[in-house]
Amino acid sequence: MGKDVIIALDFDSKAKTLAFLDQFTEEKPFVKIGMELYYAEGPAIVREIKARGHKIFLDLKLHDIPNTVKKAMAVLSGLDVDMTNLHAAGTKAMMEAALEGLTRPDGTRPLLIAVTQLTSTSQERMESDLLIEKPLDQVVMHYAKCAAESGLAGVVCSPLEAGKVHEVCGKDFVTVTPGVRFADGDAGDQVRITTPAKAKELGSDYIVVGRPITQAADPVAAYRRCVSEFVG
Ligand code: C5P
Repeated sequence: MGKDVIIALDFDSKAKTLAFLDQFTEEKPFVKIGMELYYAEGPAIVREIKARGHKIFLDLKLHDIPNTVKKAMAVLSGLDVDMTNLHAAGTKAMMEAALEGLTRPDGTRPLLIAVTQLTSTSQERMESDLLIEKPLDQVVMHYAKCAAESGLAGVVCSPLEAGKVHEVCGKDFVTVTPGVRFADGDAGDQVRITTPAKAKELGSDYIVVGRPITQAADPVAAYRRCVSEFVG
């Protein structure tokens, strides 16, 4: 699995996004388009960024009945993104349907990965609000296993869980990990954080980095620092 740094394009408009990307004159970073930008600009922004030559992780976290997710994934497959995702909590039936919908007539499809438990969910909240009374890490590993059994390519997880996910689901099962900060950087609202170098050591396949790059005084330098620490 080729390791790469994915920049989270957490902007609310096309103008801000393109102004950010225009700073990258020598490289074409792999980027993540999430709900904020997608809901602001729609599929046109995906096409535009693709046309500029970037790989795209479309982070829309689908979660609905299997038939609806299958049909939505069939539409997304036409956007020609490289990676997209859903919630494993939608069950294996939903994940299998999603995979079917996402597969193009020629058999190809973007990498489909699952969100296990959001990193914003605590053990207490999971027990009180979701009535799941098991240790959080066991729940994450179970969801990862269900995703693998459904044929998905990987999961979004904490870098701290990447090694265990590989043990349970195999070394080729992709781990995409947010929560990355430079050793001398600001944590912001992320709690369980690691540096790009540590994420590499822990076995992450892709790190998703937002503010340490987008809010940096020199985003291109920050991106290059991430790549050199994580990819080497
Ligand atoms: O700015 P920062 O580096 O914290 O951005 C991390 C990105 O990864 C954000 O787009 C955030 O929504 C996303 N993400 C996350 N934790 C998850 C899933 C996605 O931080 N469990």
